[in-house]
Amino acid sequence: MSRKRCAWIILFLVGAALIGCQLPYEQGRELYVSACANCHMEDGSGLAELIPPLNGSDLVRRNPDLLPCLVRYGMEGPVTVNGITYNEAMAPVTGLNDVELANILNYIQYQWGDPDRFYSPDEIRRILKGCDSRPVILDFSAEE
Ligand code: HEC
Repeated sequence: MSRKRCAWIILFLVGAALIGCQLPYEQGRELYVSACANCHMEDGSGLAELIPPLNGSDLVRRNPDLLPCLVRYGMEGPVTVNGITYNEAMAPVTGLNDVELANILNYIQYQWGDPDRFYSPDEIRRILKGCDSRPVILDFSAEE
């Protein structure tokens, strides 16, 4: 095989690999838009007194370990975010595997919370093992 032909084949393979595998941040953003944005809005600002914001949320920043259980099993009861108390229920978000959950939460932390907070799929798995398998009910506010 000529060198030139070989180079073209390599270029093609690299291109195909780049198109084929989605970057984690991009996947996180797309999953956020499809699974969360209809309530929390695309810019994470929430909806009036009904849906708390994720963008700038003190809860997201200060209680990162809560988020995997909260998303997988939902939450209910009062929750105070940035001094405003919400009291609706969030249904469990099903159909996300551990890698997808990590990518969504990394997107949220990087974009609107603590950019240094990174979840690995292993960490998500470990946290989920400790969840109660039912909606999260908070007995504290993020202020404490
Ligand atoms: C059907 C609407 C709905 C969807 C979809 C939804 N949420 Fe929520 N979410 C809520 C409501 C309502 C609350 C407040 C629940 C309460 O008052 O106990 C909430 C609370 C939260 C909180 C804690 C409060 C805060 O704002 O910091 C986080 C974090 C959160 N949601 C993340 C997510 C993520 C991530 C997704 C997508 C994977 C998602 N939610 C999808 C409605 C929704």
